[in-house]
Amino acid sequence: MKILDGKLAAASVKQILKAEVDILLQNNQRKPHLAAILIGNNGASETYVASKVKNCEEVGFESSLIRFENNITEEQLLSKITELNNDNTVDGILVQLPLPKHISEAKVIEAISPAKDVDGFHPVSVGKLVQGLQTFIPATPYGIMLMLEHFNIETKGKHAVVIGRSNIVGRPMSILLSSNHPQGNSTVTLCHSHTPNLQEICLQADIIVAALGKPGFVKAEMVKDGAVIIDVGITRVEDATAKKGFRIKGDVDFDEVAPKSSAITPVPGGVGLMTIAGLLKNTLQAYKNNSVN
Ligand code: GUN
Repeated sequence: MKILDGKLAAASVKQILKAEVDILLQNNQRKPHLAAILIGNNGASETYVASKVKNCEEVGFESSLIRFENNITEEQLLSKITELNNDNTVDGILVQLPLPKHISEAKVIEAISPAKDVDGFHPVSVGKLVQGLQTFIPATPYGIMLMLEHFNIETKGKHAVVIGRSNIVGRPMSILLSSNHPQGNSTVTLCHSHTPNLQEICLQADIIVAALGKPGFVKAEMVKDGAVIIDVGITRVEDATAKKGFRIKGDVDFDEVAPKSSAITPVPGGVGLMTIAGLLKNTLQAYKNNSVN
């Protein structure tokens, strides 16, 4: 069994990005610039955004963290997005989800210029992804594709089972794995909360992507010997013995499933780190697109 170490794979992506930025700077070009908007004080969102900003710095990008209180109006947020859309020094815009209930996620996502949509959530980006056109791929599925590439995991002709149909992970993941791509060409089954025979389907899987947000959900009896396991779960579970009072748990029961698998991502230290690698790659791409216009 091989551990698919996100730290290793992400470091390799980041090293290439840093080298590209170094060349830009040597040629007196400006740095790629990511603007991240964070609303309220959701602990998990704070951690993710802080990590995105830190990783931008590590590869030499500029980043702006724009914070708002929970009571910001939808109008104020949309107006900030318009300002960032019109700012030529900003290449990528990210609004951390989830949003407060009084703000429409759909409206906010649609307000971001598709040219700066480094999260790949805009309907234009999603439409292009479905059609196999060049676009921004949502960061987590993109990170998983980069990880499969880094560790030379064969996907062609395999049966991939994706559990979870979210717009952020499951749905785009199913599209990518079935696409005509070096890390695609799989036959994909997309399962969700209304799938009655989940265990039976998972037992047929050569690759399982667990992205349903239920800690420890995938058990040994659901996994075929030698399957590749990609665990997207990052749920905080209370743990009095942990320094912060919680620890992060994946959607896969690692201790049970790892011995049966041929390769598995750990949590933490797996997919989460690759998500940031995907976001950074999208930001550099947005910068390049922006520079030619
Ligand atoms: N919330 C959870 N995952 C993501 C992500 O990839 N992007 C944004 N913007 N918000 C998230």
